[in-house]
Amino acid sequence: MFHLKMGWMLWLGSCLLLGCRPESDIKVLRLAHTLDTTHPVHAALVFMAKELETRSAGRMRIKIYPGSQLGSERETIELLQLGAVDLVKTSTSPLEGFIPGMGIFGIPYVFRGSEHFWKVLEGEIGQELLSAGVHQKLKGLCYYDAGSRSFYTKEKAVRSPEDLKGLKIRVQNSRTSMQMIDSMGGAATPLSFGELYSALDQGVVDGAENNPPSLLSSRHYEVCKFYSLDEHTMVPDVVLIGTETWDRLTQEQRQWLQEAADVSVPFQRDLWAAKTKETMTALEKAGVEIIYPDKSLFQKAVASLHAGFEGTEAGRWMQRVLELP
Ligand code: GCU
Repeated sequence: MFHLKMGWMLWLGSCLLLGCRPESDIKVLRLAHTLDTTHPVHAALVFMAKELETRSAGRMRIKIYPGSQLGSERETIELLQLGAVDLVKTSTSPLEGFIPGMGIFGIPYVFRGSEHFWKVLEGEIGQELLSAGVHQKLKGLCYYDAGSRSFYTKEKAVRSPEDLKGLKIRVQNSRTSMQMIDSMGGAATPLSFGELYSALDQGVVDGAENNPPSLLSSRHYEVCKFYSLDEHTMVPDVVLIGTETWDRLTQEQRQWLQEAADVSVPFQRDLWAAKTKETMTALEKAGVEIIYPDKSLFQKAVASLHAGFEGTEAGRWMQRVLELP
């Protein structure tokens, strides 16, 4: 009896909070991403989903499919274009194939630091890029911090570009990432994130590159014991909505969703900063050697790469980024 009463009270409570409506009145948006549920970006997406539910008084929800359940980033972007999912969280790297301007983030050492990076993302350039994909049925809602990417390797530490010679380094599905590794002397091997653990384990590749929370949450550190902080690129994450879904939403629904995305950004950035610090300690505890190489060596190795982008779409954006004070 007591349980029945409690159950009824809980039901009433949630009705008051969320409104009592049949399931069919609730708009559920499906969101796909490739990261583990322990990753801070996943936590930000959960936060965004809660915000949306609150703002819409339970009329809108987000169902998250993490950990590459629905495929690689490239595959989920294609699902988004087909309208088979509504939202995707992806790195900007595989987006280059759909929105060439996104290639700007794959060019090494373009940003002068985190302040410059966020000035770009929050300013005209970043906002233009969020809407640059609408003809490809892809609309950006917000960016998330994904820190800086650095090399991690299995057998040999990377202290200078020389050490990359002869190493197969996994890269994202992105042309600029491949060009970067090639110009540093390594052999770029594109693979999806979901395939990477076994590729490292089985020696298909000798190393990869990523930010600290991704190295930890993917457990790649179990195989790669050298992490060399050359911080070659700052590649943000982005939350995209398919324009077919967006067009079907009412003005009010769009506003709730955009607001939920917007408030998740400062939440994610704070969490990212805290998690990155914790992660470095956890990696060291797990026996990963952290190397602080001379970055200028890596910068020199890619100097001609910058010049090579002149006249390209990514090069045009690069110029604007470099000129931004
Ligand atoms: C980062 C990024 C992911 C991406 C991964 C990768 O972790 O946040 O979205 O999948 O890099 O290297 O593929």
